[in-house]
Amino acid sequence: TQHLFFDCDTGIDDSVALLYLLARTDVDIVGIASTAGNVPVDVVVANNLAWLSLCGRGEIPVHRGPDGPLVAPLMTTEETHGPLGVGYAELPTSDLPVADTDAVDAWLDAAHAHDGELVGLVTGPLTSLASAVRRDPGLPRRLRRLVIMGGAFHVHGNTTPVAEWNVAVDPEAAAEVFAAFGVDGAPAPIICPLDLTETVALLPDHLVRLAAAAGSHPVEYLDPTDERGIRSVADNPLVRHLVDAMRFYLEFHDAHDEGYLAHLHDPFAAIVALDPAVARTMPAQVGVELSGALTRGMTVADERGMWGGAPNAAIATATDVDAVFDHLIETIATLARQ
Ligand code: BDR
Ligand code: CA
Repeated sequence: TQHLFFDCDTGIDDSVALLYLLARTDVDIVGIASTAGNVPVDVVVANNLAWLSLCGRGEIPVHRGPDGPLVAPLMTTEETHGPLGVGYAELPTSDLPVADTDAVDAWLDAAHAHDGELVGLVTGPLTSLASAVRRDPGLPRRLRRLVIMGGAFHVHGNTTPVAEWNVAVDPEAAAEVFAAFGVDGAPAPIICPLDLTETVALLPDHLVRLAAAAGSHPVEYLDPTDERGIRSVADNPLVRHLVDAMRFYLEFHDAHDEGYLAHLHDPFAAIVALDPAVARTMPAQVGVELSGALTRGMTVADERGMWGGAPNAAIATATDVDAVFDHLIETIATLARQ
């Protein structure tokens, strides 16, 4: 059994990542850190609790992270993820309690409880993790593996021309995490950057396949030209919420000339966290630009040893996208069938 600690800013694709993790019955989800990013931290907490309630997994603790980044003011992106972070989904309010421990201490507790065994997965800004490393610099050495969705190396950014969202929201936190891992016996993080995660593009057909695999009523409204397509007709509640969330994300990408598709950044990172072999990786020394007037939040990789240092990260560079979707659909369908 792998022990996983999940740190996210839920978020539509974070939601899919969470459902995927919940479906993986071979994994012990030690806890969930809710970090401010796509939406304010209290909304992230509410979304995580709501998904756990829907899936009957109230035993997993949900921890509240800091109100905002280490240094920068918080930016959120309701434009991308909807006013409540889950697109058009109307999740029932959860009556589950938020955990007493904050997300920063929860990172430390999880690493102590599973010393040398813990797999960390971050699909939001690195604020909570960086704060935990500040609180206990011994944390990185206790992890078995760290997988981060973040950064953009040889493609344009999605937040500034050069910066990816999770790094752009809290560049100082990202820089501190990259500096603390991959040295002194701490594992080098596997970074899943936009370069690769933008190729993991969900199409409406994938949702139709998911509904079918879950034994749900077919998803019929997904034609973007169909103005009557207000909400999902899927009769399975989990599939319906997922499709309602995803429809917002499809429209967002469409409105930004990417096509009627949706980049599944965070679910891909979740798969890599549990099965690193699904991604080919390249070692590199990675840093974050903090001061550039035009380039703040840019991730820079020295792939040729020009800085003279040792690699501190492994950048995921390639995967079998069709196999990723087959696996994702089949796994989440098992959850929806329950
Ligand atoms: C990342 O930004 C967020 O909006 C997504 O959830 C993902 O984690 C992609 O840049
Ligand atoms: Ca995210």
